[in-house]
Amino acid sequence: EAIALFRELICLHYREYGRDLPWRRTTDPYRILVSELMLQQTQVDRVVPKYEAFIGRFPDFASLARAPLSDVLAAWQGLGYNRRAIALQKTAERVVHEFEGALPADVETLTTFPGIGPATAAAIAAYAFNLPVVYIETNIRRIFIHFFFEDREGVRDEELLPIIDQALLRDDPRTWYSALMDYGTVLSKRTVNPNRRSAAYTVQSRFEGSDRQLRGRVLAL
Ligand code: ADE
Repeated sequence: EAIALFRELICLHYREYGRDLPWRRTTDPYRILVSELMLQQTQVDRVVPKYEAFIGRFPDFASLARAPLSDVLAAWQGLGYNRRAIALQKTAERVVHEFEGALPADVETLTTFPGIGPATAAAIAAYAFNLPVVYIETNIRRIFIHFFFEDREGVRDEELLPIIDQALLRDDPRTWYSALMDYGTVLSKRTVNPNRRSAAYTVQSRFEGSDRQLRGRVLAL
């Protein structure tokens, strides 16, 4: 049925084009948290080097919690929105002092930390703890509107959430959401008239072909 075919397509795309991102090589909740805070307002390509330097400088909750704020802000330079860095350090302090250094796994508790809203909490639950949570953010929203609502404008989250829940690969939410993220990135980066000589053109035309074909099949079901 439509959901099964959709899953197949997303997973196939991931196997071929999935990105090797540094925060995918870990399940350490601290590292996942740092990456998600950075990714809230900054593109993946710009986050990667900043993430690696930041983890090198502050490898865990304890080191971040005890660092002078000026050091934290210096490591955050180039990412902008310093409030995120301040929130991150406050979260580290609370994790160390109230939770014995272990970030809680449940979404409810996660959203009580500064800088962690519902989307970031769900991302942490999925990527760090592999929990079958319903996770919705820009890329994911775009994919589901593309496949299940013919790219219609004004689709509300209440319409999307049950489908996201139904589609979730419950035995491996971590991989499933990484795969969705990578499909969503290609969808949002598509250009109408790509330069025919660029490497991106080849990738995009192959993507367009399979996307059009499979989306047609999903919509027809
Ligand atoms: N945007 C938000 N979270 C992300 C993630 N884990 N990977 C890529 N882009 C993201």
